[in-house]
Amino acid sequence: MHIPVLLDEVLAALLPPGKTIRRVIDGTPGAGGHSRALLERGAEQVLAIELDPFALAIARENLREYADRVHFVHDSYVTMAQHTADLGWDSVDAILLDLGLSSMQLDTPERGFAFKYDAPLDMRFNPEGDDLTAADIINQWSPEALTDIFWRYGEEQFSRQIVRAIMQQRPLSTTRQLADLVAQTVPRKKEKTSTIHPATRIFQALRIAVNNELESVETVLPIAINILKPGGRLAVITFHSLEDRIVKQHFKDASTEIIAPPGMASLPEKEALVNLITRKPIEPTEREITANPRSRSAKLRVVEKL
Ligand SMILES: C[S@@+](CC[C@H](N)C(=O)[O-])C[C@H]1O[C@@H](n2cnc3c(N)ncnc32)[C@H](O)[C@@H]1O
Repeated sequence: MHIPVLLDEVLAALLPPGKTIRRVIDGTPGAGGHSRALLERGAEQVLAIELDPFALAIARENLREYADRVHFVHDSYVTMAQHTADLGWDSVDAILLDLGLSSMQLDTPERGFAFKYDAPLDMRFNPEGDDLTAADIINQWSPEALTDIFWRYGEEQFSRQIVRAIMQQRPLSTTRQLADLVAQTVPRKKEKTSTIHPATRIFQALRIAVNNELESVETVLPIAINILKPGGRLAVITFHSLEDRIVKQHFKDASTEIIAPPGMASLPEKEALVNLITRKPIEPTEREITANPRSRSAKLRVVEKL
């Protein structure tokens, strides 16, 4: 089962002393761990928007005692404005995005997220709605497009060599075939000095590409800030530097006011929309990492709407 990451820190960020929250959006409910804690601490209503239909069913089951206070929606968090409008909510008090994938997804072999199981190369968060699978990318994309995603989304230094091997051996249909191909292609010396499996970065890159993950994060941040009411807070947990960079940069821009110097009123001006609550990201304690190693790369950033 999925253990919610940085739970105390999220609660402290979204429910600081003296704040009550009526309406919350959980844009990534997963197993419902964060939502449950927010409901227990007095959040009146939660809009839970989950892209993975299997995860949504688990969240529904885990939160059944709060069924009258949770609105479950099967969709992407990028559509949150549409769903708040459907509920007649004009603004919300808090929004949580706990990005990436859950332990349930990683530990379900047939979803194809993990190289430790042999399964079809799938990796879709939403198998009911999206067609593009990891196998389609591996077997149909051009060598240039593959090198590009392995380099940009996986920061894999042996991208070219791996793509060359894929072109020689494709079609590939299973996670094991791909993991073995990567392990055989990455130079042995490199493999020995690294503590992570050589296929880790390639699997991360494929998952990001299959699910359009970085575009979704870029799209949702301004939408989320727009929906917050003044004093409302947005908390985002990321698990790799590519996502964290996007969140950090967007929060920095949204918290910056630009005033044209005297006599230069024609220069574009910009109001700050949020206050940074976290100047540096909050990271898990050693204790949390020991109890839940999955939390080790988590970073939490929080802003408050002005
Ligand atoms: C790290 S898990 C969340 C775990 C959850 N906070 C908990 O405590 O159980 C991330 C979840 O976000 C979902 N997800 C990923 N991209 C999404 C998107 N664009 N819209 C909605 N849900 C998404 C995944 O399917 C996964 O269930």
